[in-house]
Amino acid sequence: MTQLIAGNWKMNGTLDANVALLGALAAGLGPQTPAQVAVCIPAPYWAQFRVLAAQHPGLKAVALGAQDVSAHASGAYTGELSAAMLKDFGCRYAIVGHSERRQYHGETDAVVAAKAQQALAHGMTPIVCLGETLEQREAGQTFEVVKRQLAAVIHINGHCINEIVVAYEPIWAIGTGKTASIEQAQEVHARLREQLKAASAQAERIKILYGGSMNAGNAAGLLAQADIDGGLIGGASLKAADFLAIIGAAR
Ligand code: PGA
Repeated sequence: MTQLIAGNWKMNGTLDANVALLGALAAGLGPQTPAQVAVCIPAPYWAQFRVLAAQHPGLKAVALGAQDVSAHASGAYTGELSAAMLKDFGCRYAIVGHSERRQYHGETDAVVAAKAQQALAHGMTPIVCLGETLEQREAGQTFEVVKRQLAAVIHINGHCINEIVVAYEPIWAIGTGKTASIEQAQEVHARLREQLKAASAQAERIKILYGGSMNAGNAAGLLAQADIDGGLIGGASLKAADFLAIIGAAR
């Protein structure tokens, strides 16, 4: 399957910096990039992205993504952004359940599943993030934790899970420079694939991305694994050369 390389800019960017980063990305992307590419950028810059994408042919194939979406459809939820708003700006993806949102904003498995449902209901692809803490890994709870996190999304979304993207992001590897070894990542991905297969006859086409300190140096090894279908890239997506190198390593 075509791999997906999605950048997660997190709370980074300025109008000027984005012109430089997206311009460099556009210049570096050939007309035929084998991988699918997306950038999940802060909401205030979605309109800027659309303007730049219209100017740079190199950005034509780069999809826009959000970093979160409300679990509610509309109404009195100050500060929230609905799936309909994301759709209005041309977002194709919405990250849901990133560990930073689970950790700092108290998002539960049920909330994350409802967010995925909102994205799906509006024709977008939720990138559902899962992952264990270092403490959980050391206690041998990795499979149990990611299984529970994914089960909540499967439970609410039923057959629609064929339309999701899963991102396995061990929390201890995010922004730390510590990557899961290729074997550790593939092992969890294979378990997640089994769980998806038990829920869907089409599980082979559901992408499972790896995230957590993926960079230009380690991307090729990770992306060569049977059950690693792309990457969710934080820090390295803010440097055009690094992000392009990761895209270049994808199939
Ligand atoms: P990182 O972040 O690549 O900087 O580790 C990945 C993520 O949090 O999505």
